[in-house]
Amino acid sequence: MVRIREWAPATASDAEIDAWLRVYNAAIAADVPGEPPWRRDRLRDYLSATMPNERRAAWLAEDHGELIGYVGENLLGYDMTGTAVIELFTEPSHRRRGVGGELLAAAARHAAAHDRELISTEIVEGTPTVDFYAAHGFRPTVVEESSLLSLSTVDWDAVTEKSGRIGAGYHIEHFPDGPPETLLASYADAKLITRHTPVADVEWHAGFEADRIRDSLRTLRARGLRPYVTVAIHTASGEVAGLTELVVPAHRPDRADQYDTIVVPEHRGYGLGLTMKARLLLALRTAERQVATVQTWQPVGDEQMLRVNAELGFRPHRRWYDYEAPVSAVIESRRTA
Ligand SMILES: CC(C)(COP(=O)(O)OP(=O)(O)OC[C@H]1O[C@@H](n2cnc3c(N)ncnc32)[C@H](O)[C@@H]1OP(=O)(O)O)[C@@H](O)C(=O)NCCC(=O)NCCS
Repeated sequence: MVRIREWAPATASDAEIDAWLRVYNAAIAADVPGEPPWRRDRLRDYLSATMPNERRAAWLAEDHGELIGYVGENLLGYDMTGTAVIELFTEPSHRRRGVGGELLAAAARHAAAHDRELISTEIVEGTPTVDFYAAHGFRPTVVEESSLLSLSTVDWDAVTEKSGRIGAGYHIEHFPDGPPETLLASYADAKLITRHTPVADVEWHAGFEADRIRDSLRTLRARGLRPYVTVAIHTASGEVAGLTELVVPAHRPDRADQYDTIVVPEHRGYGLGLTMKARLLLALRTAERQVATVQTWQPVGDEQMLRVNAELGFRPHRRWYDYEAPVSAVIESRRTA
């Protein structure tokens, strides 16, 4: 008999965390073969720590006491308080029995009870998740392409040469553990460029963004994700002209994830993107010797970023979609299922 129950990883037994890991790795092996399996390191922290004004909840599906599925839900904070983000998977040998649907229903009811209007999730092209979410009223919103760099194939002399290629008037600084407090305001301004900010609220948003970055760095560390940041500084003004961010997860230390790479528009065309990324790779090689691959994402059609990535040896890998549905549509799809 399948039972769904709420689960708190922070206080769960070690055996439950172990079972979670087993089922998650089974799903990876079935759906995205070749991806590095996760490890136990800091996994409990990864599953339970949140940003200060966000809230996580989770449910397990069990068949006669054996874990066969999981859904985690994050009620977002800041400027996203209408959205709940979920991550859901079921054990490959227990699929097409309605378990995924039951877990989704638990998450949707909880989202509705907390006045969330939208549920969103990230999915990888070519996995069964596409049909599952489409059957529950979800539609794609954002599509991105990931690229992978295998560090064993990197020409380090060439990367060293690229890391030193910088226009006059700029210099590079590298910060293991995130940008220092003194740079945070300017760093936040640079990050705001990729966010949709109403012009009238820019001042307020800049302060808000700095707080959000501070919170987000604290949360990354609490979840066992080690941050590294490389910044291009416009030397005359001392302002951040560009940045690139990367994390190494304790639970998957052989694969680093490169997050945002941003060059502020007035500083584009000076090769800062390539120089920063090259510099970050060199630093990573020394600081995290176990990293075998680096994964990065770019919007489909972002030719400039693709070129920078290709020049460093990144190869296009997969497409990732954000799928989103009104909470009411998900609940309705369960009623008519
Ligand atoms: C998506 C997923 C959660 C579905 O779990 P499930 O327990 O099989 O889901 P359900 O049995 O409740 O399926 C409900 C409906 O979704 C659709 N669906 C689910 N899987 C499908 C598939 N492989 N092909 C087509 N439709 C599918 C069907 O409409 C299904 O209803 P039906 O069986 O009556 O036709 C599961 O396949 C999964 O864990 N996928 C991988 C998750 C992941 O992210 N992996 C990568 C890293 S871990």
